[in-house]
Amino acid sequence: MAGREKNIMHRRGFMKKGLQAWPQYLGVSALASSTEAGAQILAAAGGGTSGESEETFWAGVRDQFPLTRERIYVNNGGLGPSPRVSIQAVHNRIDELEEISETGHSAKLWSSVKEKAGNILGCRPEEVAYTRNTTEGVNIVCNGLPLKPGDEVITSTHEHVGNTVSWLARQKRDGIAIKVFEPSMTSAQENIDRIERLIGSRTRVLSISHVTTATGQVLPVKEIGRLSARHDLWYFIDGAQSAGMMPVDVTDIGCHAYATSGHKWLLGPKGTGLLYVRESALDSIDAKFVGAYSTAGHTDMATGEFGFNPTAQRYEYGTVNIPLFLGLGEAMGFLLDLDLERVKRRNHALAIALMTGLDELGAEVLSPREPGEHSSIVTFRIKEMPKDELQHFLGKHYRIRSRGIYEGGLEALRISLHIYNSFEEVSTILEGVKAAQTA
Ligand SMILES: Cc1ncc(COP(=O)(O)O)c(C=O)c1O
Repeated sequence: MAGREKNIMHRRGFMKKGLQAWPQYLGVSALASSTEAGAQILAAAGGGTSGESEETFWAGVRDQFPLTRERIYVNNGGLGPSPRVSIQAVHNRIDELEEISETGHSAKLWSSVKEKAGNILGCRPEEVAYTRNTTEGVNIVCNGLPLKPGDEVITSTHEHVGNTVSWLARQKRDGIAIKVFEPSMTSAQENIDRIERLIGSRTRVLSISHVTTATGQVLPVKEIGRLSARHDLWYFIDGAQSAGMMPVDVTDIGCHAYATSGHKWLLGPKGTGLLYVRESALDSIDAKFVGAYSTAGHTDMATGEFGFNPTAQRYEYGTVNIPLFLGLGEAMGFLLDLDLERVKRRNHALAIALMTGLDELGAEVLSPREPGEHSSIVTFRIKEMPKDELQHFLGKHYRIRSRGIYEGGLEALRISLHIYNSFEEVSTILEGVKAAQTA
Protein backbone atom coordinates (compact mmCIF):
# COMPACT_ATOMS: atom_id res chain seq x y z
CA MET A 1 0.00 0.00 0.00
CA ALA A 2 1.32 3.47 -0.87
CA GLY A 3 2.46 5.63 2.06
CA ARG A 4 -0.18 8.23 1.36
CA GLU A 5 -3.03 5.68 1.42
CA LYS A 6 -1.75 4.22 4.66
CA ASN A 7 -1.52 7.70 6.05
CA ILE A 8 -5.15 8.41 5.19
CA MET A 9 -6.24 5.09 6.71
CA HIS A 10 -4.34 5.84 9.88
CA ARG A 11 -5.97 9.24 10.12
CA ARG A 12 -9.40 7.77 9.47
CA GLY A 13 -8.82 5.13 12.11
CA PHE A 14 -8.31 7.73 14.80
CA MET A 15 -10.60 10.39 13.42
CA LYS A 16 -13.55 9.52 15.61
CA LYS A 17 -11.65 8.51 18.70
CA GLY A 18 -11.50 10.64 21.76
CA LEU A 19 -9.74 10.66 25.11
CA GLN A 20 -10.93 7.17 26.01
CA ALA A 21 -9.42 5.69 22.89
CA TRP A 22 -5.87 6.00 24.07
CA PRO A 23 -5.63 5.32 27.78
CA GLN A 24 -1.96 4.54 27.34
CA TYR A 25 -1.40 8.27 27.15
CA LEU A 26 -4.26 9.63 29.20
CA GLY A 27 -4.25 7.65 32.39
CA VAL A 28 -3.68 10.74 34.47
CA SER A 29 -6.39 13.11 35.57
CA ALA A 30 -7.29 15.85 33.15
CA LEU A 31 -7.51 19.48 34.18
CA ALA A 32 -10.20 21.76 32.83
CA SER A 33 -8.25 24.75 31.61
CA SER A 34 -10.45 26.52 29.12
CA THR A 35 -11.72 30.03 29.14
CA GLU A 36 -15.26 30.58 27.92
CA ALA A 37 -14.00 32.70 25.03
CA GLY A 38 -11.40 30.13 24.18
CA ALA A 39 -13.92 27.32 24.00
CA GLN A 40 -16.12 29.43 21.74
CA ILE A 41 -13.25 30.19 19.40
CA LEU A 42 -12.34 26.52 19.34
CA ALA A 43 -15.89 25.50 18.48
CA ALA A 44 -16.00 28.17 15.77
CA ALA A 45 -12.79 26.76 14.34
CA GLY A 46 -14.45 23.36 14.12
CA GLY A 47 -12.60 21.85 17.03
CA GLY A 48 -15.55 20.66 19.09
CA THR A 49 -16.22 16.95 19.55
CA SER A 50 -19.36 15.34 20.82
CA GLY A 51 -19.56 13.77 24.23
CA GLU A 52 -16.46 15.22 25.80
CA SER A 53 -15.09 18.61 26.52
CA GLU A 54 -12.51 19.54 23.97
CA GLU A 55 -10.67 21.53 26.59
CA THR A 56 -10.59 18.62 29.01
CA PHE A 57 -9.18 16.51 26.23
CA TRP A 58 -6.36 18.94 25.51
CA ALA A 59 -5.64 19.41 29.20
CA GLY A 60 -5.16 15.65 29.34
CA VAL A 61 -2.78 15.89 26.41
CA ARG A 62 -0.87 18.63 28.25
CA ASP A 63 -0.46 16.29 31.19
CA GLN A 64 1.61 14.00 28.99
CA PHE A 65 4.42 16.56 28.89
CA PRO A 66 6.85 17.02 31.77
CA LEU A 67 7.34 20.54 30.42
CA THR A 68 7.38 22.91 33.39
CA ARG A 69 4.29 24.96 34.15
CA GLU A 70 6.55 27.57 35.73
CA ARG A 71 6.78 29.37 32.43
CA ILE A 72 4.73 29.68 29.26
CA TYR A 73 6.61 27.94 26.52
CA VAL A 74 5.72 29.30 23.09
CA ASN A 75 8.88 28.61 21.15
CA ASN A 76 7.98 25.29 19.55
CA GLY A 77 9.28 26.69 16.27
CA GLY A 78 12.70 26.59 17.93
CA LEU A 79 12.43 23.36 19.88
CA GLY A 80 9.50 21.13 20.78
CA PRO A 81 9.21 19.53 24.21
CA SER A 82 8.69 15.76 24.16
CA PRO A 83 5.81 13.80 25.67
CA ARG A 84 6.68 11.28 28.38
CA VAL A 85 6.05 8.32 26.11
CA SER A 86 8.94 9.43 23.90
CA ILE A 87 11.31 10.40 26.71
CA GLN A 88 10.70 7.13 28.51
CA ALA A 89 11.37 5.09 25.38
CA VAL A 90 14.73 6.84 24.99
CA HIS A 91 15.65 6.31 28.66
CA ASN A 92 14.67 2.67 28.61
CA ARG A 93 16.55 1.84 25.45
CA ILE A 94 19.68 3.66 26.61
CA ASP A 95 19.59 1.67 29.85
CA GLU A 96 19.14 -1.61 27.99
CA LEU A 97 21.83 -0.91 25.42
CA GLU A 98 24.39 0.41 27.86
CA GLU A 99 24.03 -2.72 29.95
CA ILE A 100 25.06 -4.90 27.01
CA SER A 101 27.09 -2.31 25.04
CA GLU A 102 25.31 -2.77 21.73
CA THR A 103 24.20 -0.24 19.08
CA GLY A 104 20.66 -1.63 18.94
CA HIS A 105 20.68 -1.38 15.15
CA SER A 106 17.91 -3.56 13.80
CA ALA A 107 16.22 -3.67 10.43
CA LYS A 108 12.87 -4.07 12.21
CA LEU A 109 13.26 -0.86 14.21
CA TRP A 110 14.65 0.99 11.20
CA SER A 111 11.57 0.17 9.15
CA SER A 112 8.97 0.52 11.91
CA VAL A 113 10.05 4.09 12.68
CA LYS A 114 10.26 4.92 8.97
CA GLU A 115 6.76 3.54 8.52
CA LYS A 116 5.51 6.17 10.99
CA ALA A 117 7.62 8.80 9.23
CA GLY A 118 5.93 7.78 5.96
CA ASN A 119 2.54 8.25 7.63
CA ILE A 120 3.57 11.69 8.86
CA LEU A 121 4.99 12.83 5.50
CA GLY A 122 2.72 10.96 3.09
CA CYS A 123 5.37 8.82 1.41
CA ARG A 124 6.77 5.31 1.42
CA PRO A 125 9.15 4.38 4.27
CA GLU A 126 11.85 3.61 1.70
CA GLU A 127 11.83 7.27 0.68
CA VAL A 128 12.86 8.45 4.16
CA ALA A 129 16.39 8.88 5.52
CA TYR A 130 17.26 9.56 9.14
CA THR A 131 19.18 12.77 9.71
CA ARG A 132 20.18 14.79 12.76
CA ASN A 133 18.14 17.88 11.90
CA THR A 134 16.54 19.79 9.04
CA THR A 135 19.84 21.49 8.23
CA GLU A 136 21.48 18.14 7.52
CA GLY A 137 18.66 17.31 5.10
CA VAL A 138 19.13 20.67 3.37
CA ASN A 139 22.85 19.98 3.05
CA ILE A 140 22.32 16.51 1.59
CA VAL A 141 20.05 17.92 -1.10
CA CYS A 142 21.96 21.13 -1.78
CA ASN A 143 25.34 19.42 -2.07
CA GLY A 144 24.00 16.35 -3.85
CA LEU A 145 22.31 18.12 -6.77
CA PRO A 146 24.23 18.20 -10.05
CA LEU A 147 24.62 21.98 -10.39
CA LYS A 148 27.06 23.80 -12.64
CA PRO A 149 28.45 27.34 -12.37
CA GLY A 150 25.78 29.81 -13.36
CA ASP A 151 22.87 27.48 -12.50
CA GLU A 152 20.25 29.33 -10.50
CA VAL A 153 18.42 28.51 -7.27
CA ILE A 154 15.29 30.41 -6.30
CA THR A 155 14.49 30.87 -2.63
CA SER A 156 12.73 33.40 -0.38
CA THR A 157 13.91 36.17 1.95
CA HIS A 158 12.05 34.52 4.84
CA GLU A 159 14.16 31.35 5.01
CA HIS A 160 15.84 30.22 8.20
CA VAL A 161 19.61 30.25 8.19
CA GLY A 162 19.45 26.43 8.01
CA ASN A 163 18.09 26.68 4.47
CA THR A 164 20.33 29.56 3.50
CA VAL A 165 23.95 28.91 4.41
CA SER A 166 24.33 25.63 2.51
CA TRP A 167 23.19 27.36 -0.72
CA LEU A 168 25.46 30.36 -0.04
CA ALA A 169 28.39 28.02 0.54
CA ARG A 170 27.66 26.24 -2.71
CA GLN A 171 27.44 29.59 -4.46
CA LYS A 172 30.90 30.42 -3.14
CA ARG A 173 32.35 27.01 -3.93
CA ASP A 174 30.72 26.17 -7.25
CA GLY A 175 29.57 29.51 -8.63
CA ILE A 176 25.83 28.83 -8.62
CA ALA A 177 23.55 31.90 -8.49
CA ILE A 178 20.84 32.57 -5.90
CA LYS A 179 17.70 34.55 -6.67
CA VAL A 180 15.29 35.57 -3.91
CA PHE A 181 11.68 36.66 -3.71
CA GLU A 182 9.99 38.46 -0.83
CA PRO A 183 6.90 36.44 0.18
CA SER A 184 3.65 38.35 -0.16
CA MET A 185 1.70 38.11 3.09
CA THR A 186 -1.63 38.71 1.45
CA SER A 187 -1.79 36.71 -1.75
CA ALA A 188 -0.82 33.10 -2.43
CA GLN A 189 -1.14 33.72 -6.17
CA GLU A 190 1.21 36.67 -5.91
CA ASN A 191 3.85 34.35 -4.42
CA ILE A 192 3.49 31.96 -7.33
CA ASP A 193 3.80 34.93 -9.71
CA ARG A 194 6.86 36.29 -7.89
CA ILE A 195 8.58 32.92 -8.23
CA GLU A 196 7.57 32.57 -11.87
CA ARG A 197 8.98 36.00 -12.69
CA LEU A 198 12.39 34.84 -11.41
CA ILE A 199 12.51 31.67 -13.48
CA GLY A 200 14.93 31.88 -16.39
CA SER A 201 16.76 29.53 -18.71
CA ARG A 202 19.47 28.82 -16.06
CA THR A 203 17.05 28.16 -13.19
CA ARG A 204 17.45 24.63 -11.86
CA VAL A 205 16.22 24.58 -8.27
CA LEU A 206 13.38 25.93 -6.19
CA SER A 207 14.10 25.80 -2.46
CA ILE A 208 11.40 27.15 -0.14
CA SER A 209 9.87 26.54 3.25
CA HIS A 210 6.47 24.88 3.59
CA VAL A 211 5.78 27.06 6.63
CA THR A 212 8.12 30.02 7.02
CA THR A 213 10.07 30.45 10.21
CA ALA A 214 9.55 34.21 10.06
CA THR A 215 5.76 34.52 10.12
CA GLY A 216 4.41 30.98 9.98
CA GLN A 217 3.04 31.63 6.51
CA VAL A 218 1.97 28.44 4.76
CA LEU A 219 3.22 28.77 1.21
CA PRO A 220 1.07 27.30 -1.60
CA VAL A 221 3.49 24.39 -1.98
CA LYS A 222 1.25 22.26 -4.18
CA GLU A 223 0.65 25.03 -6.71
CA ILE A 224 4.34 25.91 -6.59
CA GLY A 225 4.99 22.21 -7.24
CA ARG A 226 2.97 22.42 -10.45
CA LEU A 227 4.90 25.51 -11.49
CA SER A 228 8.16 23.77 -10.72
CA ALA A 229 7.15 20.71 -12.77
CA ARG A 230 6.15 22.93 -15.73
CA HIS A 231 9.64 24.43 -15.74
CA ASP A 232 11.35 21.13 -14.99
CA LEU A 233 12.98 22.39 -11.77
CA TRP A 234 14.29 20.48 -8.77
CA TYR A 235 11.83 21.21 -6.01
CA PHE A 236 13.11 21.13 -2.43
CA ILE A 237 11.03 22.01 0.62
CA ASP A 238 12.27 22.93 4.08
CA GLY A 239 9.60 21.39 6.28
CA ALA A 240 11.12 22.26 9.67
CA GLN A 241 8.00 24.21 10.67
CA SER A 242 5.30 21.98 9.22
CA ALA A 243 5.60 18.25 9.93
CA GLY A 244 3.82 17.55 13.22
CA MET A 245 1.98 20.86 13.18
CA MET A 246 -0.42 19.75 10.46
CA PRO A 247 -0.91 16.94 7.96
CA VAL A 248 1.75 16.87 5.25
CA ASP A 249 1.57 14.98 1.98
CA VAL A 250 4.80 15.21 0.04
CA THR A 251 3.48 12.98 -2.73
CA ASP A 252 0.57 15.31 -3.31
CA ILE A 253 2.82 18.39 -3.10
CA GLY A 254 5.02 16.92 -5.81
CA CYS A 255 8.41 17.90 -4.40
CA HIS A 256 11.60 15.96 -5.02
CA ALA A 257 12.82 16.28 -1.45
CA TYR A 258 11.50 17.48 1.90
CA ALA A 259 13.52 17.90 5.10
CA THR A 260 12.23 18.23 8.64
CA SER A 261 13.36 18.10 12.26
CA GLY A 262 12.30 15.51 14.79
CA HIS A 263 12.85 18.00 17.61
CA LYS A 264 10.34 20.69 16.63
CA TRP A 265 6.68 20.02 15.83
CA LEU A 266 7.18 16.25 15.84
CA LEU A 267 8.02 16.57 19.55
CA GLY A 268 10.79 14.02 19.32
CA PRO A 269 14.29 13.73 20.81
CA LYS A 270 16.75 16.51 20.11
CA GLY A 271 19.18 15.85 17.29
CA THR A 272 16.81 13.87 15.09
CA GLY A 273 15.51 14.67 11.63
CA LEU A 274 13.93 13.13 8.55
CA LEU A 275 14.68 13.61 4.88
CA TYR A 276 12.23 12.51 2.20
CA VAL A 277 13.66 11.95 -1.26
CA ARG A 278 11.26 10.86 -3.97
CA GLU A 279 12.23 7.42 -5.27
CA SER A 280 12.79 8.72 -8.80
CA ALA A 281 15.14 11.43 -7.48
CA LEU A 282 17.40 9.13 -5.46
CA ASP A 283 19.94 8.62 -8.22
CA SER A 284 20.16 12.34 -8.99
CA ILE A 285 20.71 13.64 -5.47
CA ASP A 286 24.16 12.19 -5.05
CA ALA A 287 24.96 10.82 -1.57
CA LYS A 288 28.21 12.55 -0.53
CA PHE A 289 28.63 11.33 3.04
CA VAL A 290 28.50 7.56 2.83
CA GLY A 291 29.66 4.45 4.64
CA ALA A 292 28.16 1.50 6.48
CA TYR A 293 24.38 1.39 5.78
CA SER A 294 24.65 3.54 2.60
CA THR A 295 25.40 0.55 0.40
CA ALA A 296 23.71 -2.62 -0.76
CA GLY A 297 25.37 -5.82 -1.88
CA HIS A 298 29.06 -6.48 -2.09
CA THR A 299 31.69 -3.74 -1.98
CA ASP A 300 35.23 -4.46 -3.09
CA MET A 301 38.09 -1.97 -3.06
CA ALA A 302 40.14 -4.09 -5.44
CA THR A 303 37.52 -4.35 -8.18
CA GLY A 304 35.65 -1.14 -7.37
CA GLU A 305 32.45 -3.11 -6.92
CA PHE A 306 29.97 -1.00 -5.02
CA GLY A 307 26.30 -0.06 -5.13
CA PHE A 308 24.15 2.38 -3.21
CA ASN A 309 21.28 1.17 -1.11
CA PRO A 310 18.25 1.39 -3.43
CA THR A 311 16.35 3.38 -0.77
CA ALA A 312 16.89 6.76 0.89
CA GLN A 313 18.99 4.90 3.44
CA ARG A 314 21.92 5.66 1.12
CA TYR A 315 22.11 9.07 2.84
CA GLU A 316 22.74 7.43 6.22
CA TYR A 317 26.18 6.29 7.25
CA GLY A 318 27.86 4.84 10.31
CA THR A 319 26.50 4.28 13.78
CA VAL A 320 23.10 5.79 14.56
CA ASN A 321 21.77 6.74 17.99
CA ILE A 322 19.01 4.15 18.07
CA PRO A 323 17.38 5.27 21.36
CA LEU A 324 16.79 8.71 19.82
CA PHE A 325 15.10 7.33 16.73
CA LEU A 326 13.06 4.96 18.84
CA GLY A 327 11.91 8.01 20.82
CA LEU A 328 11.11 9.81 17.58
CA GLY A 329 8.97 6.86 16.55
CA GLU A 330 7.04 7.11 19.84
CA ALA A 331 6.56 10.87 19.42
CA MET A 332 5.29 10.41 15.87
CA GLY A 333 2.96 7.64 17.05
CA PHE A 334 1.63 10.01 19.72
CA LEU A 335 0.81 12.65 17.10
CA LEU A 336 -0.67 10.13 14.65
CA ASP A 337 -2.88 8.76 17.42
CA LEU A 338 -4.06 12.29 18.18
CA ASP A 339 -4.71 12.76 14.44
CA LEU A 340 -2.87 15.55 12.68
CA GLU A 341 -6.09 17.10 11.36
CA ARG A 342 -7.23 17.49 14.94
CA VAL A 343 -3.81 18.81 15.97
CA LYS A 344 -4.03 21.39 13.19
CA ARG A 345 -7.54 22.48 14.22
CA ARG A 346 -6.46 22.92 17.81
CA ASN A 347 -3.32 24.81 16.86
CA HIS A 348 -5.23 27.07 14.49
CA ALA A 349 -7.81 27.83 17.15
CA LEU A 350 -5.07 28.93 19.56
CA ALA A 351 -3.45 31.07 16.85
CA ILE A 352 -6.77 32.69 15.89
CA ALA A 353 -7.43 33.53 19.55
CA LEU A 354 -4.01 35.16 19.79
CA MET A 355 -4.32 37.08 16.51
CA THR A 356 -7.78 38.32 17.44
CA GLY A 357 -6.55 39.52 20.82
CA LEU A 358 -3.51 41.22 19.28
CA ASP A 359 -5.80 42.99 16.80
CA GLU A 360 -7.87 44.28 19.70
CA LEU A 361 -4.70 45.63 21.31
CA GLY A 362 -3.70 47.42 18.11
CA ALA A 363 -0.58 45.29 17.63
CA GLU A 364 0.68 44.75 14.10
CA VAL A 365 0.20 41.08 13.23
CA LEU A 366 2.54 40.11 10.38
CA SER A 367 1.31 36.53 9.94
CA PRO A 368 -1.28 35.92 7.22
CA ARG A 369 -4.98 35.59 8.15
CA GLU A 370 -6.32 33.37 5.40
CA PRO A 371 -7.24 29.94 6.87
CA GLY A 372 -5.10 28.17 4.25
CA GLU A 373 -2.13 30.45 4.79
CA HIS A 374 -1.69 30.90 8.50
CA SER A 375 -0.30 28.29 10.83
CA SER A 376 0.03 28.26 14.60
CA ILE A 377 3.00 30.58 14.44
CA VAL A 378 2.01 34.18 15.09
CA THR A 379 4.51 36.97 14.46
CA PHE A 380 3.73 40.52 15.55
CA ARG A 381 5.23 43.77 16.70
CA ILE A 382 4.06 46.73 18.76
CA LYS A 383 5.02 50.32 18.11
CA GLU A 384 5.53 50.99 21.83
CA MET A 385 8.50 48.63 22.28
CA PRO A 386 11.22 47.10 20.05
CA LYS A 387 11.17 43.31 19.72
CA ASP A 388 14.19 42.51 21.94
CA GLU A 389 12.83 44.64 24.75
CA LEU A 390 9.36 43.13 24.34
CA GLN A 391 10.76 39.62 24.44
CA HIS A 392 12.71 40.48 27.58
CA PHE A 393 9.68 42.18 29.17
CA LEU A 394 7.40 39.20 28.55
CA GLY A 395 10.06 36.81 29.80
CA LYS A 396 10.76 38.77 32.96
CA HIS A 397 7.24 39.73 34.02
CA TYR A 398 5.11 36.95 32.52
CA ARG A 399 7.59 34.06 32.24
CA ILE A 400 6.91 33.73 28.52
CA ARG A 401 9.52 32.04 26.34
CA SER A 402 9.13 33.45 22.83
CA ARG A 403 11.57 34.10 19.97
CA GLY A 404 12.58 37.31 18.24
CA ILE A 405 12.39 37.41 14.44
CA TYR A 406 15.12 39.19 12.51
CA GLU A 407 14.65 37.15 9.32
CA GLY A 408 13.59 39.30 6.38
CA GLY A 409 14.34 42.38 8.52
CA LEU A 410 10.98 41.97 10.26
CA GLU A 411 12.14 42.87 13.80
CA ALA A 412 9.13 41.21 15.40
CA LEU A 413 8.22 38.66 18.07
CA ARG A 414 7.20 35.09 17.25
CA ILE A 415 4.80 33.03 19.32
CA SER A 416 4.55 29.40 18.22
CA LEU A 417 1.70 27.40 19.70
CA HIS A 418 1.40 23.63 19.85
CA ILE A 419 -0.88 21.07 21.45
CA TYR A 420 0.43 21.54 25.01
CA ASN A 421 -0.49 25.26 24.98
CA SER A 422 -3.85 26.53 26.24
CA PHE A 423 -6.23 29.45 25.83
CA GLU A 424 -5.28 30.52 29.34
CA GLU A 425 -1.70 30.89 28.19
CA VAL A 426 -2.86 32.88 25.17
CA SER A 427 -4.74 35.18 27.56
CA THR A 428 -1.60 35.68 29.66
CA ILE A 429 0.42 36.53 26.55
CA LEU A 430 -2.19 39.14 25.60
CA GLU A 431 -2.13 40.52 29.14
CA GLY A 432 1.66 40.80 28.90
CA VAL A 433 1.56 42.57 25.53
CA LYS A 434 -1.01 45.01 26.91
CA ALA A 435 1.21 45.74 29.90
CA ALA A 436 4.21 46.26 27.59
CA GLN A 437 2.27 48.85 25.62
CA THR A 438 1.95 51.06 28.68
CA ALA A 439 5.19 50.18 30.47
C1 LIG B 1 12.41 26.85 8.45
C2 LIG B 1 13.55 26.28 9.24
N1 LIG B 1 14.49 25.57 8.62
C3 LIG B 1 15.52 25.01 9.27
C4 LIG B 1 15.66 25.17 10.63
C5 LIG B 1 16.82 24.53 11.31
O1 LIG B 1 16.38 23.40 11.99
P1 LIG B 1 17.43 22.37 12.60
O2 LIG B 1 18.11 23.08 13.72
O3 LIG B 1 16.63 21.20 13.02
O4 LIG B 1 18.38 22.03 11.53
C6 LIG B 1 14.72 25.92 11.33
C7 LIG B 1 14.83 26.11 12.78
O5 LIG B 1 14.17 26.88 13.41
C8 LIG B 1 13.64 26.50 10.61
O6 LIG B 1 12.71 27.24 11.22
